[in-house]
Amino acid sequence: MTATSFKELMGQLKEDTTVQVAAADKKQLADHYNFTEGWYDALLNTDKAIRSNTQGPKVDLDPAEKRQIVEIGVYEGASSCFWSDFYLDHEESSLISIDPFTGSEEHHANPENYAGLGRLERTARENIAKSKNCGKVEIIKGYSQHVFSDLDARFALEPWIDVLYIDGAHDSVSVARDCVLYIPMVKPGGLVFFDDYAHPDVKRAIDGALNSFAKFEFAIFTGWQLVGKVASVANKHA
Ligand SMILES: C[S@@+](CC[C@H](N)C(=O)[O-])C[C@H]1O[C@@H](n2cnc3c(N)ncnc32)[C@H](O)[C@@H]1O
Repeated sequence: MTATSFKELMGQLKEDTTVQVAAADKKQLADHYNFTEGWYDALLNTDKAIRSNTQGPKVDLDPAEKRQIVEIGVYEGASSCFWSDFYLDHEESSLISIDPFTGSEEHHANPENYAGLGRLERTARENIAKSKNCGKVEIIKGYSQHVFSDLDARFALEPWIDVLYIDGAHDSVSVARDCVLYIPMVKPGGLVFFDDYAHPDVKRAIDGALNSFAKFEFAIFTGWQLVGKVASVANKHA
């Protein structure tokens, strides 16, 4: 497959997604938040796809349940707002959102394609502040590989993440590193959402990591993202 930029490739592949987000939902989001990219769609699309999936395995994601979510890659906060709006209602639920707010290599390669790049942190904080459960969102400014040891120390030895969303830098090395470090912290029965799985670099890294650091009960491809349910994780970094 040839494409001149990551963004173009993403646009092509998104036409194949299994469920389309309703125009009214999109408008509601556009009116409420300030996003220069339509990335809230990817999670809305996946959410609809896993809920309407009548064949094969079921993803049990009860909005009211207590959960600890960790997301790698915030950008302008679209995915953070998705989690906050739909999956943090339990009073003890929380979201940790990690990003250095620098943008990734693919953004810097074509900065003219990414209008919001110069003010990511401010936009993200403003958007998240407008989301439903904003008080349960902790923003950690930093690279996932740098903040990992603090999180590991803070949350002790047992796996502690219920939902992990991997959407940081999209080169194979970065994706593989996020999988290696963070998947072992997901509880058995927890879910891992891999964004951009349809992108070949991302897919290569995830495919390699999937069988190395956890056993997955199943994985569902939703057209752009992959959602896997963890059966067990490899022993923690001893
Ligand atoms: C595709 S964007 C995230 C989009 C966001 N999840 C959404 O749905 O709108 C990727 C983000 O990852 C961030 N990033 C790059 N390297 C990272 C790393 N090592 N750790 C955490 N975030 C990283 C970039 O700054 C960028 O904001």
